[in-house]
Amino acid sequence: MTDYSKCQLTRFPMPVLSRRAEPVGPITDDIRTLANRMIDLMVETQGVGFAAPQAGVNLRIFVVSLDSTRENARVYINPEIEVSGPQVTHEEGCLSLPGIYSSIPRYARCKVTATDLEGNRFTEEAEGLLARAFQHEYDHLEGVMIKDRMSRPAKIRARRRLKQLIDEYNAESAS
Ligand code: NI
Repeated sequence: MTDYSKCQLTRFPMPVLSRRAEPVGPITDDIRTLANRMIDLMVETQGVGFAAPQAGVNLRIFVVSLDSTRENARVYINPEIEVSGPQVTHEEGCLSLPGIYSSIPRYARCKVTATDLEGNRFTEEAEGLLARAFQHEYDHLEGVMIKDRMSRPAKIRARRRLKQLIDEYNAESAS
């Protein structure tokens, strides 16, 4: 049994980050602990969103707080996303890809339907930064990261940094 309160931030190339996450079953105390831990990690790292694979957990949950505060954090369990509008390109980073920033195209608007910690299904419509955050976090649940959505030249520029992250990961796994 995993103690979700002890989860730590995972970085590329941890395998959990490139897997499709599994649906969450009943909302148990463990799930509430996990959501809380994800909010803690997001607030600590000043992120605007955080997905369960980034806490090393292969489940379909993300949290978002546009000002990185706990008060404004909202939990999205088993989310579905419907995108619309033109694609807009803007710079993004990812806590699991430290040192990598790149222009990423995202849809201008989206609608997210998800379950909250009380087990209620709800829908939110978003545009701008919130729509971007939803699409970024939803990608994490599909095993997709910004490195997979960068332009070809940006991928070439990021190659050395990605290699460093792989070397660090291998060194940590070996120790
Ligand atoms: Ni990310």
